[in-house]
Amino acid sequence: MTQTSTATKGLEGIVATTSAISSIIGTTLTYRGIDINELAAHSTFEEVAYLLWYGELPTQDQLQAFKQDLARNRQLSPQILQDISNYPRDANTMVALRTAISSLAFYDPEAGEMSPDANHDKAVRLLAKFPTVVAAIQRYREGEQPVPPRQDLDEASNFLYMLKGEMPSELDAHVMDVALILHADHELNASTFTARVAASTLSDMHSAVVAAICTLKGPLHGGANEAVMRTLEQIGEVQNVTGYVRQALERKERIMGFGHRVYKEGDPRAKWLKKMSEQLAQAKGDPKWFDMSNRMEEEVTREKGLLPNVDFYSASVYTYLGIPRDLFTPIFAMSRASGWIAHILEQYADNRLIRPRAEYVGPQARRYVPLDQRS
Ligand code: ACO
Repeated sequence: MTQTSTATKGLEGIVATTSAISSIIGTTLTYRGIDINELAAHSTFEEVAYLLWYGELPTQDQLQAFKQDLARNRQLSPQILQDISNYPRDANTMVALRTAISSLAFYDPEAGEMSPDANHDKAVRLLAKFPTVVAAIQRYREGEQPVPPRQDLDEASNFLYMLKGEMPSELDAHVMDVALILHADHELNASTFTARVAASTLSDMHSAVVAAICTLKGPLHGGANEAVMRTLEQIGEVQNVTGYVRQALERKERIMGFGHRVYKEGDPRAKWLKKMSEQLAQAKGDPKWFDMSNRMEEEVTREKGLLPNVDFYSASVYTYLGIPRDLFTPIFAMSRASGWIAHILEQYADNRLIRPRAEYVGPQARRYVPLDQRS
């Protein structure tokens, strides 16, 4: 970019659309106007997904019907399971996820239908199948058969049940549910923007969701939670944290799980995840990951003034839930799918092709030189 460029690198601060789904004002995140703190304290993931899609909290009957709709659509076709079973055992889990979610379109009866009704039905089927896909990927990687979903369980409990083959404790299920709520939507983050760009071409919902998965994968976005756990494992012990942080900052390295493009005064989701990490540490009698994370937060905040984002404490939370680290980002996707879909539906409802401009900074107009005249 030239010095006189009018382009905004990283689109920082650019308001690219209007949206009635979620808002970030200071350190307050709302879904449809309701503070995330209230939702994390009182709601459930299903209720939040309904709220994001339809704009209002459901009545009891509406919630019941929505939950049944999701539960009935959890099953994967034998072809999808067969495909997943053939993925390489050491495949990147986000590569596996984007492949499996993409292939759901093969067997969706309305994959190419763009009517509002068809899109609603696809939305339910997609969201319902996401946890089943993530759990199946993990089971096959472990050399186990997938555990069929249960219709009598909520999203969070059913996911942990499919992952482990046993019922989760009440605390584990509750923590999973709150984690899903906290990750469900976040204004115009990179993956949601990607989903909206894809939807704005009137591409189908599966395609837009796959595009979003691809964007979430990167370590500057959803991939950070996995990177946080890798760092904690590498540090090993709480007494090594201070040295690690100081050296990493001296080397000008980014410390994963800290900083945010929008929140400069703290990410409201991080405090919930921190609290749950501490609760789990106590319940499991294993303080190490929480203590290390807490020390790291103190150090990074003192040394660099950076605060933890959603990815930081979610790493220790998922580890306490017995989830391997390369499943963290697929779980993020499983929750964020609710937000992506809300934005895709919003984009379809009032569409205009998203097609910005680039400021050209390449060579000025010049002539084609035939191949035999080039030196
Ligand atoms: N570790 C060390 N330094 C950092 C970090 C970090 N995690 N984040 C920002 N900084 C520093 C930068 O080096 C820069 O310092 P400088 O002014 O001395 O050069 C300053 O803080 C500003 O950084 P920017 O890159 O301008 O901030 P930006 O808004 O572009 O970055 C981002 C936001 C990408 C999230 C960044 O904070 C980062 O890389 N964090 C680590 C990755 C991460 O946790 N990603 C998850 C984000 S949440 C989510 O997507 C779900």
